[in-house]
Amino acid sequence: MRLRGSANWPNASRPPSIKRFAPLPHVGNPTRTFPPVKMVRVMSDALDSPSVHVPVLPEEVCSLLLACDPEVAVDCTLGLAGHARLLLERSPRLRLIGLDVDSHNLSAAAERLAPFAGRIQLVKANFADLREVLTRLQVEGAGAILADLGVSSNQISDPQKGLSFEVDGPLDMRLDENLTTTAADLVNGLPEGELADLLYLQSQERLSRKISKRICQVRRQGRINSTVQLARLVAFAVGQNPDAHRGRIHPATRTFMALRMAVNREAASLQRLLAQAPDCLRAGGRIGVISFHSGEDRLVKDDFRTRSRAGIYELVTKKPVCAGEVESATNPRSRSAKLRVAQRESSP
Ligand SMILES: C[S@@+](CC[C@H](N)C(=O)[O-])C[C@H]1O[C@@H](n2cnc3c(N)ncnc32)[C@H](O)[C@@H]1O
Repeated sequence: MRLRGSANWPNASRPPSIKRFAPLPHVGNPTRTFPPVKMVRVMSDALDSPSVHVPVLPEEVCSLLLACDPEVAVDCTLGLAGHARLLLERSPRLRLIGLDVDSHNLSAAAERLAPFAGRIQLVKANFADLREVLTRLQVEGAGAILADLGVSSNQISDPQKGLSFEVDGPLDMRLDENLTTTAADLVNGLPEGELADLLYLQSQERLSRKISKRICQVRRQGRINSTVQLARLVAFAVGQNPDAHRGRIHPATRTFMALRMAVNREAASLQRLLAQAPDCLRAGGRIGVISFHSGEDRLVKDDFRTRSRAGIYELVTKKPVCAGEVESATNPRSRSAKLRVAQRESSP
């Protein structure tokens, strides 16, 4: 048991609490980039997906993370609590700390997890601050840590989040409302060269210069504020008909992905999580990360390998675990999912 004192956990009769810590300072460059991204058709499927979020690789997550019989698990990306619920159902003694930067998802998750109120603690926090969160909760080491990266289907289809080129909405893209820079700020404010670099470095958009040039021409006539406006102008910039992309990757897919990653500082947050994870796991505890593009997966793979060579981790999955045929057919998001799991070795 790694919890100091039982006061950290709400009583079974109380509804799940959501702690809102004061935002922690974020270190790191918002435009820090992932290694190169391979774009596949599923990326567009994921962005077009319906509002119901189906957790990916559910069996694999449960069997690989519960194999070490954890007492405390941290779901770093609680979302709509799909994975969290399964973990709590499968492991009746498990206590779960759930983190999310999105207050709406956190509230929805609290409702879905109400039957487990005595075993959960939900925190509005960035997983980049995991160590700080566990210290504040007086948790010395978790037995399992899960991060299911990216965004949930309901976030994509929420027009107010401004993540989709299909649903018109403000060009926002912030998952965490405490962030101050929106996608509109980047699109309307960055110099042409910097905008092109952002598109290229974040998502390897090869037509970044053309797109950036067109954005700068259009914004001279007035601020670009909506998702569909941006999607259409990107399509025109690369010589495509914005109304005829069905069945193919939308020409604005990489532009949207690059802006979302920059706005939410996704690469920097993942790197900070990976750096802190060994200190946040007890000996024998496991970390599982599900990534959705090759840039994220590369960071996870390299981190786990480096630490396994240093005797900090043992690799539980030598190769990433991917969805089988049935899951791929029924849940398009799962087609690009890669799960890697590592186990914390005993402290030297
Ligand atoms: C793919 S969804 C997780 C879905 C969840 N596993 C489920 O089964 O419902 C990713 C979630 O992580 C959240 N998120 C993204 N980046 C985050 C970060 N750096 N820290 C905390 N939460 C984050 C998003 O707001 C979103 O709710």
